[in-house]
Amino acid sequence: MKFIPRLKSITPYVAGAPIAAVARRYGLDPKKVIKLASNESPLPPFPEVLEVITQKFNDLNRYPDSECRDLKAALAARYGVSTGELIVGNGSCELLIWLSLIMLEPGTEAVFSDPTFLVYEEVTRARGAAPVKVPLKDFANDLAALAAAVTGKTRIVFLTNPHNPTGSYLHYRDIAAFAARIPADCLLVLDEAYNEYVEEEDSQDGLKLRRERANVIVLRTFSKIYGLCGLRAGYGVCSPEVKEVVDKVRQPFNVNMLAQAAALTALGLDERLRERRALNRAGRRQLYDGLTGLGAGYVKTQSNFMLVDVSGLSVAADDVPEELMRRGVIVRPGRPLACPGYIRVSVGTEAENMMLLEKLAELK
Ligand SMILES: Cc1ncc(COP(=O)(O)O)c(C=O)c1O
Repeated sequence: MKFIPRLKSITPYVAGAPIAAVARRYGLDPKKVIKLASNESPLPPFPEVLEVITQKFNDLNRYPDSECRDLKAALAARYGVSTGELIVGNGSCELLIWLSLIMLEPGTEAVFSDPTFLVYEEVTRARGAAPVKVPLKDFANDLAALAAAVTGKTRIVFLTNPHNPTGSYLHYRDIAAFAARIPADCLLVLDEAYNEYVEEEDSQDGLKLRRERANVIVLRTFSKIYGLCGLRAGYGVCSPEVKEVVDKVRQPFNVNMLAQAAALTALGLDERLRERRALNRAGRRQLYDGLTGLGAGYVKTQSNFMLVDVSGLSVAADDVPEELMRRGVIVRPGRPLACPGYIRVSVGTEAENMMLLEKLAELK
């Protein structure tokens, strides 16, 4: 087969191992294995959402609404934008693909931090564009260095806030000053996949920045705090111009019917959202306290995951994920995320966090 040669430079994304596979590999009871590897919600979707999904089963002989009209109307009302400023994807990852399709080609560049969400590099390389990677500073996006890396060839700047894989958070007054330095013909992608977990007052100011600048797009998702990553729904708030061009490359029925119904229902349940945020806050605190008790360092997070320093344990840092998995706890190894000496763990339920701390204590 004659595949496009540039695809050779792409390393496929490696997702966190599923519970069933780990249980099989180590001869464990799957009910006693926990997954803290993929920044997922530890709780199932809201009960109201589950009810709506089951009601939709009988309609599955029909195509879903290709325009996601109801969901867009609800998002538009929530954010005070028009439906012409919204795009909805099969997870926000699909939006990253579209943005690469409309902005990148050979001879152009995309600027992003290193390390960051691995999909940015994947979609950039797939388009034959050059990735320009800028090291983090103190586990956070280095805005000055990112701005300095922008050239006449740059078409996209990807910026994650809170950052993945570190959980660090930048204030929007700093991001606004950064945005002012990005040329108008270059898209600034503010990836806010973890926005709903943020406990800072300015957490919604990315949308303000979007209103002020046509070249800003804010990405959010139902995968994280809403617990719907298994269904796939994410969205972008962008200028009408960006939406119009995205519609040229979008397949017509990209968001399935169950995902649209689930996202619409979940969006209306603010009290449940607040409960989930509070659970995450308590879980973060539990992990901070427990890790401090163990003498293990961590990076403070505004998200539902955190980096834990495992360099001081009795086993080599690179072996910690395997040792934890053997004990029924799946975490993300730090080295492939360019954070050697660390593991990345999702905040779980109280019992899951406790189990992680107990298993780490066994490796002391
Ligand atoms: C920074 C970041 N952006 C986007 C995504 C993708 O989310 P989705 O499930 O909406 O495709 C993730 C998922 O882990 C992420 O960490």
